[in-house]
Amino acid sequence: MAWQIPLADIDFGPEEHQAVQEVLTSKWLSMGQVTETFEQQFAALIDVPYAVAVSSGTAALHLALAALDIGPGDEVIVPSLTFVASVNAVLYVGATPVFVDITSPDDFSIDPAAIARALTPATKAVIVVHYGGYAVDMAAIATVLAGRSIAVIEDAAHAPGARLDGRALGSFGDAGCFSFFANKNMTTGEGGMLTTARHDVYQRVRRLRSHGMTSLTWDRHRGHASGYDVVDLGFNYRTTEINTALGLVQLHKLADNAQRRQRLTARYQQQLRAIPGVTVPFQAHRGTSAYHLLPILLDNPTVRAHVMQSLAGQGIQTSMHYPPIHHFSLYRQRYPVPPGRLPQTEAVGTRELTLPLYATMTDTQVDTVCAALAAAVQPSEGL
Ligand SMILES: Cc1ncc(COP(=O)(O)O)c(C=O)c1O
Repeated sequence: MAWQIPLADIDFGPEEHQAVQEVLTSKWLSMGQVTETFEQQFAALIDVPYAVAVSSGTAALHLALAALDIGPGDEVIVPSLTFVASVNAVLYVGATPVFVDITSPDDFSIDPAAIARALTPATKAVIVVHYGGYAVDMAAIATVLAGRSIAVIEDAAHAPGARLDGRALGSFGDAGCFSFFANKNMTTGEGGMLTTARHDVYQRVRRLRSHGMTSLTWDRHRGHASGYDVVDLGFNYRTTEINTALGLVQLHKLADNAQRRQRLTARYQQQLRAIPGVTVPFQAHRGTSAYHLLPILLDNPTVRAHVMQSLAGQGIQTSMHYPPIHHFSLYRQRYPVPPGRLPQTEAVGTRELTLPLYATMTDTQVDTVCAALAAAVQPSEGL
């Protein structure tokens, strides 16, 4: 379907074409100089010493858990209101996910008090997700975990460039995991980045990214290493110079595009507040968001399918972020959650609707979505 107003769009121009062309001309396609530069510039954005480019955000999450030695017998506290990859990574390393609730219908981030209640001697890590680019309360998380040896992994897939208390998201935890998937604020088609201030995590992630080898083809090409040993059971989570060339151009556009997303969000919120039956979360949020998603809550959950259909009929794409993970068959069977244990997650899961938001969106398109939404919600009230 050719959407008039898609859920997400990409800001690509001649700069991206040229960057890819240069890589093709160079004939060095796997990781090399461009990837190294991308890693350095991304580390500077997050203000951490280390950044490792990988093939996806999912790979970054998997490598973070593996590098932190989390495995069978260990529990990892996770939210259920996130993309399934955040929790699949826990299963990859053989650890057990422990689902906890989000804070409220206004703040979809993991609830620090619920984390405190879920801690056991087996807890080895907490994965926090900066939903939609909005910061989790990292100070509250630090307070809950104080004095314990529990790792924090930030799923910052939605949050490149977002900040809290003067620091970038992705710099608070033992590792920050970013995604450059095709619908993200900065994209390389597929791709991801792991950020860390820990030298041990950095070294291990670099090795695990490429088969557990002690040197890369690029190192050998440059004469930095002549052979290699295999010291860990690693993976192929490498990226390519084509992807990272795109990443460098996208990185330079990130700040301007975030400002545009912020202005569009403000315009949306002003109009959405006036629509009966619609509640707008994250209006008073911590720090500076990356404004990746525009979530709303429908007061009456039974109208959601009708509203989505009505907007789709006018060429407006909408979505849901997210169907709670503990409802998926795989998770229901393996890690059943008793009914009523995650009330806020369940409520948001049934009421949430995501509206289009992208840096190239026009003000008029925002107005069109809001008008269509107002009309779609109104007649179906009381369904
Ligand atoms: C919250 C979240 N975590 C992890 C991922 C996984 O990233 P990727 O698709 O790059 O593997 C995504 C997005 O796709 C995401 O939205």
